Amino acid sequence: MKSPLHAANPAVPVSSESTAPTISQLMDARMTRRTAMQGMAAAGVYGLFGCATSAPQGTGSSLTFTESGRFMDETHHVAPGYNVNALVRWGDPLHADAPDFNPRQQTAAAQERQFGANNDYVAFMPLPRGSTSSTRGLLCVNHEYVTPSLMWPGFEAADYAKNVTREQCETEMAAVGHSIVEVERRGGLWTINLKSGYNRRISARSTPMRIAGPAAGHPRMATRADVSGTRVIGTMSNCAGGTTPWGTVLTAEENIQNFFTGDASTGREAAAWKRMGINGRGRYQWGRHVDRFNLNREPNEANRFGWIVEIDPYDPKSMPVKRTALGRCKYECANTVISHDGRVAVYCGDDERMNYVYKFVTRDAYNASKTEANRDLLDNGTLYVARFDAKKMQWLPLVFGQGPLTKANGFENQGDVLIEARRAADLLGATPMDRPEDVEVNPLTGRVYVVLTYNEQRKPDQVDAANPRGPNNFGHIIEIIPPMVNGKMDHAATECPWEFFIIGGDPKKPEHGARYLGPVSANGWIAAPDNLAFDPKGRIWIATDGQDDWAGFNDSVYAAETSGPMRGVTRNFFSCPRGAECTGPAFTPDGKTLFLSVQHPAEEKGSTFDKPSTRWPDFRPDMPPRPSVVAITKADGGEIGS
Ligand code: FEO
Ligand code: CA
Ligand code: CA
Repeated sequence: MKSPLHAANPAVPVSSESTAPTISQLMDARMTRRTAMQGMAAAGVYGLFGCATSAPQGTGSSLTFTESGRFMDETHHVAPGYNVNALVRWGDPLHADAPDFNPRQQTAAAQERQFGANNDYVAFMPLPRGSTSSTRGLLCVNHEYVTPSLMWPGFEAADYAKNVTREQCETEMAAVGHSIVEVERRGGLWTINLKSGYNRRISARSTPMRIAGPAAGHPRMATRADVSGTRVIGTMSNCAGGTTPWGTVLTAEENIQNFFTGDASTGREAAAWKRMGINGRGRYQWGRHVDRFNLNREPNEANRFGWIVEIDPYDPKSMPVKRTALGRCKYECANTVISHDGRVAVYCGDDERMNYVYKFVTRDAYNASKTEANRDLLDNGTLYVARFDAKKMQWLPLVFGQGPLTKANGFENQGDVLIEARRAADLLGATPMDRPEDVEVNPLTGRVYVVLTYNEQRKPDQVDAANPRGPNNFGHIIEIIPPMVNGKMDHAATECPWEFFIIGGDPKKPEHGARYLGPVSANGWIAAPDNLAFDPKGRIWIATDGQDDWAGFNDSVYAAETSGPMRGVTRNFFSCPRGAECTGPAFTPDGKTLFLSVQHPAEEKGSTFDKPSTRWPDFRPDMPPRPSVVAITKADGGEIGS
């Protein structure tokens, strides 16, 4: 979703006098090392940094598609030779007997059986389970939020905050969460299977969830409806996510502050609410009709959101689980990797200006031969937060009783540390970042890519080694390089070198301060990077959120090599329709289909249900714009990127 312009980390002081190095000093120091690495890469000495891939030889890129252009129009655009199909749209029935979408007569009951709103993260989970099928699988899709102005007819005339009805609120609750839908590719075309027993909606309105891990049963997790503090109805703000090696999907609860109303200035949770940006003036009015979303009627309910939720898409009767050991923030994502010793690391970004990057490392090793043995692997382990210094970064443990995380600072136990992970991270001295979005591991090299989307509020005297621009209007991507142990990457390591991968903006405009390793084209430079995917060749695909605001053209998807002479040189592949954000890129295992979320088309100032700025993808006068997952394939059946 587009970020609200508020709520930076209150723990970060704005100093009036800076002793920090200048922006160009910081970037030169980092880029000097990177340029040296580039030279090594060209010479094929990746082993020094633990890269398993070999660099493409010569000066060309293996990404041979013709670049797309820049657009600010009503429809999508893709590189020549590719097909784009809107595979599943907001309101599409997910069952053979589910009602058709009727945008003028929406109900919660219908929405619970239809594809939800504002689709975000997409995972493709092959069918059957354990296979590497690229023609049949489950699309597992987050529904982050609703856009009331594009959801409700007559919105312009109505005073939404005062007049939104209980049924409308319930329909909004039904429209967020997650969808699981079976898809199949036949004759080159992807379709959804309405008869599949896997198809399922998970919503904020009706889906029971288990709370597990150290905060389960904590008094601050208990409500009148759940005195045990171990059961909660629903999930929302589901932004990005990840998959696990044992075949489950992780969904991250991000901007939960939008869903709670009431007086946030008083009560025992007031300070904790403030640190989470929960001010009681939620974008939605659920709290007017549903008590648990009213901060004053149910003060602990907000503590039950902001977690990483694990879903088993292969078991349609399974109950999703909120894994509290991973901490509570405004999490963007949760991407897993198996470390050198079999333990699993989960990387997460907390997407708000001046907030932090986290990783969780399991206590126990992944059991590859017995899937069910991993069922509760994410309940035990250590959560870390990142501190970036000029030459290396540290992972600092969030463990009750260690360092400042004690009773003296208001933490009674590990549950408190996890419920207030942001405050714990403040006390540890984590590095405030420029809005951490995706944090994802290149499966071929093991390097970790941290996307900082932008931070127009960072002041010149707040720059640091890892956030070198103030303001940062274009975003950047950092690469963390875990050390090697016995030939494998150690994702449990607490100290790692890091590099800049891309510093976004137009390299032809010195005032942008952009840096790329090679010549990006006029159509190829990026702004506002957000979500990532890696194709089977280990190339990075970057979806943006905010180019319309910061660069003057619609959000796009770019691809770049991650090694070799064209490392980090972004190429423009796809553009969204106006008002939309590109998110959720996901490849089939063969790299021949790219699924993409086109989120919130027409979400622009003055654009409403009755007069939207685009009616993508249907372009029918009786249909509003509809967020959709598109399937992109190459017309000749080849790999995406060729
Ligand atoms: Fe929901 Fe951080 O984007
Ligand atoms: Ca995002
Ligand atoms: Ca975003």
